[in-house]
Formats: sequence, C-alpha cells, structure tokens
Amino acid sequence: MKVAIIGAGNVGTALATSFARAGHDVIITSRDPEDAASAAAASGGRIVETNAAAAAEADVVIPAVSFASIAEVATEIAGPAAGKPVVDVTNRIGFGEAGPDIDTTSSNAEELATLLPESSVVKAFNTLFASNQVDPVSDGVQLDGFVAGDDVSAKTKVLELVRSIGLRPIDVGPLARARQLEGLAFLNMALNIVNQGSWQSGWKLVGAPASVPAAA
Ligand SMILES: NC(=O)c1ccc[n+]([C@@H]2O[C@H](COP(=O)([O-])OP(=O)(O)OC[C@H]3O[C@@H](n4cnc5c(N)ncnc54)[C@H](OP(=O)(O)O)[C@@H]3O)[C@@H](O)[C@H]2O)c1
Repeated sequence: MKVAIIGAGNVGTALATSFARAGHDVIITSRDPEDAASAAAASGGRIVETNAAAAAEADVVIPAVSFASIAEVATEIAGPAAGKPVVDVTNRIGFGEAGPDIDTTSSNAEELATLLPESSVVKAFNTLFASNQVDPVSDGVQLDGFVAGDDVSAKTKVLELVRSIGLRPIDVGPLARARQLEGLAFLNMALNIVNQGSWQSGWKLVGAPASVPAAA
C-alpha cells in the first residue's frame, strides 16, 4: 500500500519504519522539511512537500501529529483524502488534582471524523507506544493492534496494515469504540507516568470470544 504519514516525530518515524520494512511505499511530510528528511532517511520512506500532496498520492493517510494540530491538518487534507481511509493515532490525556485524567464522553477519532466527512476515519495504532510500533513484541508477547471504524472497506485495509507490521489485528467494532481505545492508551500512559515506567508496556487481549474478528 502507499501510506502517507503526516508528522515526522516519534510515531511518524516509528510507523514509517515498520511500514517500509513491511514493503509498503511510505511518504512522509512535516512542518520542518529537515525533520521530514531525517525521518525518511531513518525509516526508508521518502519525503513529499505538502500534506495535501502526500494525501493525494496515498491509499491510506495517517496524521501522526498531536491532536492540537489535527484541525489544521484536516483542513489541508480534506479534499485529497476524500474517499480514503484516514487513520487516527492520536491520544488524549489531561491532568487534574488527582493526577492524569481523561474525558471519555467522546474521542479524538470521532472529532476527526466530523472534520473529514468525505473520508473514512479509522482508529488504530494509538494503544501502542512508538517503541512497540517499531517492535510489536513486548516481554516475548506479540502485542495487539486494535482497530475501530465504521467503514468496513477502510477498516479492512487498516487491519491489513496492522497485520503487515507484525501486530495481531483485532477489530473492536465501530468508530465509537475509539473512546475505549483512547482509554486503554490513557491507562498505559498514566501507569507509566505515576510509576516512572520505561514506556515499554502494551496491551494483549487473551481468551477473546471466538467470534471476535482477529484479522481482516
Ligand atoms: N509517542 C507515542 O508513543 C505515541 C503512541 C501512540 C499515539 N501517540 C499519538 O501520536 C501523535 C504523535 O505523537 P508523537 O509522539 O509522534 O509526537 P511528536 O514527536 O511531537 O511528533 C509530532 C510531529 O507532527 C508534526 N506536525 C505538527 N503539525 C503538523 C502539520 N500541520 N503538518 C505536518 N506535520 C506536523 C510535528 O512537527 P513540529 O516539530 O514542526 O511541530 C512533529 O514532527 C499524538 O497525537 C500522540 O497522542 C503517541
């Protein structure tokens, strides 16, 4: 698949590395062309000048940016990403008096879907720290890649991308399940923050009902 990764930070570089290793055609953009060039060199991808041009070329678009930048990116890619899967990898975390906290009444993915009504937004990769997006094995266990989305065809493509980089793909249902996937990621982040962890922990569902779709 031709995958456009928008953002050349931890996640952009990690996913670009895994996708390139799996044989996908990876294109990367960033606000700073030098960052995009470094990420492309490190991962085996190639740079494209603008977010819109990357989205126009790709089969699947992945904005690997903070959620604060999502609206800006969505404006740029709305036209060229129309009719394509757009993968939301973003997470949410806040800090209250009692420490880390999260609003679970909606999800970043559902908010992105309202910004990109012509695209098929799929939630994936957010439950894995960047280290495990590169290496999907933790403590000798193959980690899960949970995928949520409303459009079956787009979700099937993303499940295949998840499988191709060595994760066990699990279809968790409609896009609204992104609230729980963002919750899973939040819990993992909060545990590492509170316990000064090494950010290597990941999620594996064991003993799932036989009818849970584990692959495309
Ligand atoms: N880090 C993790 O382990 C992890 C795991 C799962 C999910 N996530 C989620 O993944 C997302 C990215 O996290 P990260 O750790 O990779 O963040 P990061 O290291 O800060 O990287 C974000 C990248 O996006 C770029 N960017 C921002 N706005 C852009 C725009 N309009 N066009 C193109 N590029 C733009 C940034 O460029 P500038 O430097 O110019 O701002 C930066 O290169 C976040 O939403 C996070 O919640 C992170």
